[in-house]
Amino acid sequence: MRITLSAAVTSDGYLDDNTPRRLMISTPEDWAAVLALRAAHDAILVGAETLRRDNPALLLRDGKARARRAARGLRPDLTKVTMTRSGRLSPAMRFFTEGDADRLVFSEVPVPALEGVAEVILPGAPLTAAAVVTELEKRGIRSLFVEGGARTLRQFFDAGLADTLRLAVNPALTLGPARGGARLDLHPDASLPCRRERLDDGMEVAVWRLRADTAARDREDLALAIRESRRCVPCDTCYRVGAVIRTTAGELFTGYTHETSPTHHAEQEAIAKALRAGAELRGASICSSMEPCSTRRSEPESCTQLILRHGFAHVAFALYEPDRFACCRGAQTLREEGVDVRFYPDLGDEVLKINAHLKH
Ligand SMILES: NC(=O)c1ccc[n+]([C@@H]2O[C@H](COP(=O)([O-])OP(=O)(O)OC[C@H]3O[C@@H](n4cnc5c(N)ncnc54)[C@H](OP(=O)(O)O)[C@@H]3O)[C@@H](O)[C@H]2O)c1
Repeated sequence: MRITLSAAVTSDGYLDDNTPRRLMISTPEDWAAVLALRAAHDAILVGAETLRRDNPALLLRDGKARARRAARGLRPDLTKVTMTRSGRLSPAMRFFTEGDADRLVFSEVPVPALEGVAEVILPGAPLTAAAVVTELEKRGIRSLFVEGGARTLRQFFDAGLADTLRLAVNPALTLGPARGGARLDLHPDASLPCRRERLDDGMEVAVWRLRADTAARDREDLALAIRESRRCVPCDTCYRVGAVIRTTAGELFTGYTHETSPTHHAEQEAIAKALRAGAELRGASICSSMEPCSTRRSEPESCTQLILRHGFAHVAFALYEPDRFACCRGAQTLREEGVDVRFYPDLGDEVLKINAHLKH
């Protein structure tokens, strides 16, 4: 999923002051740019404290952008998403009452008051940004705009899940500790690419590319993984999966389900080949046609555990494992452990076809 973090801050790094009223930090030109950026995403997320303090509606204001979404068969407004531990959210908030949008609340506790106004998702506690991203991907969300507040932005930033950070600084606005509210302390690595511009009305905007675009290489390796998966003989007890390892030295190793043993998964086969060849797997990438499994009955370790034990840095896959044999948590677990996980849903139909023997 493509993830953008966005915030407007004062010259001294505050997102808000400490009064109950909402402080507008963006200038008109900056706000127009933020609304245009929103429109380039499928979903928008803010933390529950932002809903309680600012009561934002989080709508697309541009009629053309709404019409474009409707033409694609989507609801006119972005899917609205929030996260809460306490469940302290009221159905009267504009998040729930305004616009024509799907509304998702990720919560650690049931929130009966929101029945009928939102889907409340309980992925387990503690709720992580990785769980939110994984559940959104499973629901067809391909891009997410995270618009605050400070604690929410920090979690996505620290988890390494974001592609881009857009920070708009209003140099004419300084609050100081006595008047400042939530403060944003995000410091992207100085080596990361950053584009800076000063808008005509004075706002200073910096846009960092936080993580590399790996799509071209992932797609190449996934195409090979999908080809490999066809070599597995169909049977009632397994998915036909292929996997490709690319080491940091550029060596490639492939594997497919049951290649050498009736209990082996594709990732396992590829890892065994790489180890036999003496390859260094730390920092390597593994592309698998299906999400790596997270529980095994017939083997001591799941593919997720193997990937973590060998120190892979990057995982890509084309299809989330359907809940047929087990409830898979591979992608979420890998993300929670800091592995860079990418999902290519447009390749998923081919993987489903290759697994048509299981009659989905
Ligand atoms: N200038 C800007 O661009 C901008 C944009 C947005 C917001 N803001 C400002 O930012 C301030 C709010 O920032 P904030 O850092 O205090 O709060 P926040 O990030 O908006 O929300 C934090 C709350 O979100 C929920 N939450 C976050 N992560 C969670 C997790 N992993 N699991 C479960 N729940 C989670 C918790 O809600 P519960 O407390 O319900 O458990 C937590 O208290 C406001 O003053 C707002 O005006 C400014």
